[in-house]
Amino acid sequence: MTSRPVIDDLSSFWMPFTANRQFKAAPRLLESAKGMYYRSSDGREVLDGCAGLWCVNAGHGREEIIAAITEQLSTLDFAPTFQMGHPLAFEAAAKVAELMPAGLDRIFFTNSGSESVDTALKIALAYHRSRGEGQRTRLIGRERGYHGVGFGGISVGGIAPNRKTFSGALLPAVDHLPHTHNLEHNAFSKGQPAWGAHLAEELERIVTLHDASTIAAVIVEPVAGSTGVLIPPQGYLQKLREICTKHGILLIFDEVITGFGRIGKATASEYFGVTPDLITMAKAINNAAIPMGAVAASRTIHDTIVNSGAQGAIELFHGYTYSAHPAAAAAAVATLDLYRREGLFERAATLAPTFEAAAHSLRNAKHVKDVRNLGMIAGVELEPREGAPGARAYEAFVKCFEAGVLVRFTGDILAFSPPLIIDEEQIAHLFKTVGEVLATVQ
Ligand SMILES: Cc1ncc(COP(=O)(O)O)c(C=O)c1O
Repeated sequence: MTSRPVIDDLSSFWMPFTANRQFKAAPRLLESAKGMYYRSSDGREVLDGCAGLWCVNAGHGREEIIAAITEQLSTLDFAPTFQMGHPLAFEAAAKVAELMPAGLDRIFFTNSGSESVDTALKIALAYHRSRGEGQRTRLIGRERGYHGVGFGGISVGGIAPNRKTFSGALLPAVDHLPHTHNLEHNAFSKGQPAWGAHLAEELERIVTLHDASTIAAVIVEPVAGSTGVLIPPQGYLQKLREICTKHGILLIFDEVITGFGRIGKATASEYFGVTPDLITMAKAINNAAIPMGAVAASRTIHDTIVNSGAQGAIELFHGYTYSAHPAAAAAAVATLDLYRREGLFERAATLAPTFEAAAHSLRNAKHVKDVRNLGMIAGVELEPREGAPGARAYEAFVKCFEAGVLVRFTGDILAFSPPLIIDEEQIAHLFKTVGEVLATVQ
C-alpha cells in the first residue's frame, strides 16, 4: 500500500477528547489497519490492545463486512426510515434482537452510544407517560458512570470533567448512586469483587428521598469502561434489579462497550443473568465499520408506547435521519453473521483466563496499585504522580504506542479491550510490553 504524504497542517480538525495542542505538537497518526494491527504513519505495526475504542471486536479490515457495505452502497445508498422503510433495517433489527435477552426484542436504531443513551432515557419517560405515570421523570445514574456526551448522558453520567463546563444545563431531575470502586476492599480482584453488593441498597435511600412515584429509570454500565474499568461486585446488579422491580422503576443497562462478546456472551445482561428493561448498544454492533447504535426495549415498553397512541398517530416523536442507515445496517448483518460463524463470543470466554493471568502478571510492575478484569476487559491502575494526575498514565500510553502497542488511558488507569480475535501470543506480548514500558515511566 502506498502511503500518503504526511499532512503538515493539523489545525483544522478540532479533535474530540484530546489535548489538541499537546497532540498537534507531537501527533500520532494511524494510516491503515488489518486484523490485530494498525499501521502508523511512520510505517510501524501497532498491536491494537483496545479494539480501536472498544469497538472493533472482529478485528480490522474484515472483508465480509467491507463487501456488504460496498454492495449496499451501490444498491441503495440511503433510504429514509421515517414513514418509509428498507428491508435491511428490519433484517438488522431481527438479528440484533436474536442476541438480546428474552423479551428485549424491539430495536430502535441510532448512530452512536450517546444517541442510544438519550434515546433510552426518552423511551423510559415516554413509557411512564403512556401508562399514566407521567410524573415519573427522575433519572438515576451512578458516580463515575459514562453514558456518552449528550445532555441526557452527561446528566446521568458521573465523570466530573464531562459535566463541569455544562453544569448549568444538565437535566434537572437526576440523582446518582455511589460508585463501587474501593481498593481497600477489592484491590487485585480477579473477575467480580466479593465486596460491594450492599452499595446497590443506596438505591433504596434515593427512592425514599424522592419517592418511587417520581423516578423513571436507573441507568448503569454493567461493567464500567471509560471511567477506568470498574467490575460490578458479586450480587450488585441482581440487587439493583430487585429494587427497580419492587418500585416500578425501569432498569437500563448501558452495554455500549459490553455488548457483542466483550465478556464472553452476547450481552453482559446474559453473562450476569440479570435482565434490564432497556439495553443501549453501539460500537461492536457492526464492528464500528459505519457509525451505528441501538436500543433494545422490552416488548412491554414497546407495546405500551406504541399501543397508547391513536391509530395513524406517530407514537414516539424521536428518531435520526440515519437511524438504520442502509450501509450501517448491512455492516451490522454481516458483522453479526461473522461473530456467529467464527464463534467470537465463545472465543472471548475461552481466552478470558489467559487474558486475566497476563493482566495480573503486572501486579508487581512499577507504579501499579491495582489490576482488575472481566472477560476481555482489564484495567491497570497506577499510582498518580504527585500534583499531576493522569500524567503518568499518559506517559505510559505514549511509550506503549512507541513500543508498538495501543492501549487506552483514563486518569491514571490503563484500559485493555483487544479485538476478540487476539491470540495467546499477542496477549502475552501486549502485557509484557506494558510491563517493560512501566519500568521506564517516571
Ligand atoms: C458505556 C458507554 N456509553 C456510551 C458511550 C458513548 O458512545 P459514543 O462515543 O458512540 O457516543 C460510550 C463510549 O465509550 C460508553 O462506553
